[in-house]
Amino acid sequence: MNFTKKDLETLNQIIASRRDVRGNNFINKKISKKKLTAILNSALHAPSVGYSQPWRFVIVDDVKREKVYKHFSKSFEKSKLRFRDKPIYNTLKLEGIKESNINIAVYYKKPTKNVLGQTYMKRSGEYSVVCAILNMWLTARAMNIGMGWVSILKPKKVNKIFDIDKKDYKFIAYLCFGYTKEFYDEPELKKLKWEKEKQLQECLLNK
Ligand SMILES: Cc1cc2nc3c(=O)[nH]c(=O)nc-3n(C[C@H](O)[C@H](O)[C@H](O)COP(=O)(O)O)c2cc1C
Repeated sequence: MNFTKKDLETLNQIIASRRDVRGNNFINKKISKKKLTAILNSALHAPSVGYSQPWRFVIVDDVKREKVYKHFSKSFEKSKLRFRDKPIYNTLKLEGIKESNINIAVYYKKPTKNVLGQTYMKRSGEYSVVCAILNMWLTARAMNIGMGWVSILKPKKVNKIFDIDKKDYKFIAYLCFGYTKEFYDEPELKKLKWEKEKQLQECLLNK
């Protein structure tokens, strides 16, 4: 199958307009089962080391969502100490656990046999899961659904909430999905001058 220039333009638009969406921007509107399935199926098309497909998902129920939120709140409070020199940190909304429609915890299934390509780079399995997450993020965006990634969580606590054994699985991400008021045209942390946007030249290590 060959794509057209128009297709490339659309892809670039989806990539450039993907945003991390937080609780101040989610609206109370249900994501259909069909759309949720489309998001999950897009993850399954991600590349993975040795075609290991090591991604696993937990679609979070309301009781567990509440537990994750409580844990997030504590972790966020503690994390404020690290940013004492940047008071704006305390005012940031850094999750949308309750405001979003669907929460998904993403796990890496540790291999039980040798995986082609993973002999020396053990983390390539985890990288594969991150590839799957990006597929979900972009697919959601193409359906005008926002996603927010929450990482201010202790994996140990999250595993306990979901009764997951770290011997078999590694916690990778906690994702919040929902329709939005709007998609910002730029990353919020850029708008707030928390970080500057890097240009290509700064990202090239070759001198
Ligand atoms: C691995 C990872 C973890 C992240 N964790 C958080 C988080 O805990 N809270 C949050 O508000 N945003 C989180 N983000 C979102 C980033 O802050 C966001 O991607 C970045 O500021 C660029 O903005 P944009 O995604 O809207 O373009 C995370 C993103 C990634 C890739």
